Amino acid sequence: MKATALAPANIAFIKYWGKRDEVLRLPLNGSVSMNLSNAFSTTTVDFSPEYQQDQIELLGADFTAKEKLRVIQHLDRIRAIITSSWRAKVVTQNNFPKGTGIAASASGFAALTLAAAGALGVKLAEKELTILARRGSGSACRSIPDGFVEWVAGPLTGRSEDSYARSIFAADWWDLRDILLVVSDHEKKTATTAGMERVKTSPLLVARLRRVPARIVKIKQALAKRDLQLLGTISEEDCLEMHQVMQTQEPPLDYTSKATLKVLAAVKRWRQQGLAVYFTIDAGPNVHLICEGRDKQNVLQAVKKMKGIQSIIINKPAQGAHLIQEHLF
Ligand code: PMV
Repeated sequence: MKATALAPANIAFIKYWGKRDEVLRLPLNGSVSMNLSNAFSTTTVDFSPEYQQDQIELLGADFTAKEKLRVIQHLDRIRAIITSSWRAKVVTQNNFPKGTGIAASASGFAALTLAAAGALGVKLAEKELTILARRGSGSACRSIPDGFVEWVAGPLTGRSEDSYARSIFAADWWDLRDILLVVSDHEKKTATTAGMERVKTSPLLVARLRRVPARIVKIKQALAKRDLQLLGTISEEDCLEMHQVMQTQEPPLDYTSKATLKVLAAVKRWRQQGLAVYFTIDAGPNVHLICEGRDKQNVLQAVKKMKGIQSIIINKPAQGAHLIQEHLF
């Protein structure tokens, strides 16, 4: 009763920030993302009547008691589908640092969902898997489908089944790069779940929610036409707006650092010099540079001249979560 899944992290062009239902993890707005080929979680789950309790292990780092509980609650959701009482051993590994806003929760819960369902023999369609992954961590639903993905918010009064993720373009649709500049590998201070709970204290939230639907339409057009200027302009706008909402919450939440702001200024400068590159940032100080494959070397050359970059992770669009044969134990 063992299965292993690999799931990518994803970077959102239209961001998810705020829930209309905290328990079901139903979002206030839809979002659109790309799966990342080189930032992923691998998770092995083994269910057995011989385990007395769930054992949860993160290789290369430690889960807090709270994080372990969140994993166990997710296992409970999957056990409930077939009323199994078997406990599990879960071992997981990220190929990128934990807690830096590189969405380990997205890749982690997507991999956990697929591996646990696979190990228990629970057969679910992709849409159902995305709904289940969403219960573990909202952004995890976007790491299940292939390539470029839309998370459909569902109607405001909608049920859990109305909010799911679907692929809008396959990974090979557009040769984009996400050049992730790690400026800090320290864990962030406020976890996204806690930060998001305060979203309604921001006076800017209402304005943002009014604007997002039109942006989603434009981002999908940009993807359809492979129009980097449109994609980059809209996603920078949405990213900055999400951070303004965070920064005007009570208490204010600022995930950026001096190094982040330095990179943003540099990106604008590079663009003025003719380099087609755009930025986006999640709930952490690290900056994702979005460009086309043919401009990768030029962007890397510009980045090399900067100080304060600790590491660089180069991503292409990637397939979604999938089962693999090699187990972690
Ligand atoms: O990882 P979650 O489900 O708590 O959500 C994080 C959301 C952001 O990364 C800040 C934005 C996004 O849409 O990915």
